[in-house]
Amino acid sequence: MYYIGVDLGTSAVKLLLMDGTGSIKNIVSKEYPLSFPKPGWSEQNPEDWDKQVMAGIKELIADVDGSEVAGISFGGQMHGLVILDKDDNVIRPAILWNDGRTNKEVDYLNDVIGKDKLSEYTANIAFAGFTAPKILWVKANEPENFAKIEKIMLPKDYIAYKLSGVHCTDVSDASGMLLFDVKNRTWSKEMCEICSVKEEQLAKVYESYETVGTILPAIAEELGISKDCKIVAGAGDNAAAAVGTGTVGEGACNISLGTSGTVFISSKNFGVDAKNALHSFDHADGTYHLMGCMLSAASCNKWLMDEIFKTSDYAGEQVPITDDKLGENHVFFLPYLMGERSPINDTNARGTFTGLTMDSTRADMTQAVLEGVAFAIRDSLEVARSQGIVIERSKICGGGAKSPLWKKIMANVCNVKLDILESEQGPGMGGAMLAMVACGEYPSVGAACDALVKVVETVEPEAELVAKYEEKYNQFKMIYPAMKEVFAAIK
Ligand code: XUL
Repeated sequence: MYYIGVDLGTSAVKLLLMDGTGSIKNIVSKEYPLSFPKPGWSEQNPEDWDKQVMAGIKELIADVDGSEVAGISFGGQMHGLVILDKDDNVIRPAILWNDGRTNKEVDYLNDVIGKDKLSEYTANIAFAGFTAPKILWVKANEPENFAKIEKIMLPKDYIAYKLSGVHCTDVSDASGMLLFDVKNRTWSKEMCEICSVKEEQLAKVYESYETVGTILPAIAEELGISKDCKIVAGAGDNAAAAVGTGTVGEGACNISLGTSGTVFISSKNFGVDAKNALHSFDHADGTYHLMGCMLSAASCNKWLMDEIFKTSDYAGEQVPITDDKLGENHVFFLPYLMGERSPINDTNARGTFTGLTMDSTRADMTQAVLEGVAFAIRDSLEVARSQGIVIERSKICGGGAKSPLWKKIMANVCNVKLDILESEQGPGMGGAMLAMVACGEYPSVGAACDALVKVVETVEPEAELVAKYEEKYNQFKMIYPAMKEVFAAIK
């Protein structure tokens, strides 16, 4: 039998086809537009996702017997607000995870309702990208749209709905809405009331590895796959990536270098960090996790390459950054091109180059971007470490993990052993694995990870370089506090 993992990302949907032995048979990627209608806003059209998922599945299974596709599941960009009216039409473009328009609503939730109450109800405080502040924004700014809302859903759940007709979500993705009681894995009545949301507007909640239904007959026919194909709840992309990288059990860590950058720490027990600087969410294997999320990670390098240097030769730009240059760069980059979430929670924060001199080169700037992202990832790791969590090794996935240089910088800046996997297709692989569990190939998510995730190499930190980067990190940490008021003034 075959299993499909749909990784509904921000720049593209990546689809992965796996057979019953866990071998990856095909990978297809289909892009869609991302729009920034105003500075700090970020939107996408859910119909574009659907169109590309359908086209992608057709291409993905073109060379196999479609009647053998047993299950489809998902890893999806988190927090996005998708709203449908009574006829199931999308009311307005989805407001995405990296959208920063909800300052007022975040202040209302954190300061008027209060962080203590939010943390008691949901295990989290409000961040601009979370879903609840977006609902309040629509209520305040687009009352005619707010009045039409029949269904509220997250991005991947819109695809599950189109495929199965079931209005569903899973615990890991629901955790990022600020409407969900993470500890008890159920909707929070208090938060629904605070946000003027009726529970019937929200989806039925499943564990990530549970089947929500079968594929709609007309869709099965269009795709040429079995009418018995199961649609499985899936997970937010970070929890799905954690499954795909085997980040399960107590204290396992995964660093994702995608459009966003995340540090994901799995935990068997529910826990909240003292200041709520890290998110406390449900995991896709039935347990919990802590997570720090930076809004622009590999996207900073993509921006520098595509928009500024106008090159597609990302690897070529890294060639001059030889080993002797590491830990020696006096150019620094703050990677806050979309503001920042973890741990500084500042929508006004912006990108900057600092320390440029007349002899600074294009390669120094490229290096500064790779290092700036690594320093910002370390910021989240340090919050976890300050809570007594020991992190000595981590998996790594996402587009940025293709660069050997970036992996070396990351291992030495963070002082962690980085385990490199056979496949860095985190969320897509995790999605396919969740489908396999739901279809009975494995008894649990942990068993699927044990059987399917293979470490092929480890990047070890080197003491001398770790010490050099320690000094650079301490310098990096001085830049944002010095700039904070400037960012607020120039917003
Ligand atoms: C996590 C987050 C991002 C998106 C990216 O909280 O906002 O990692 O899920 O797709």
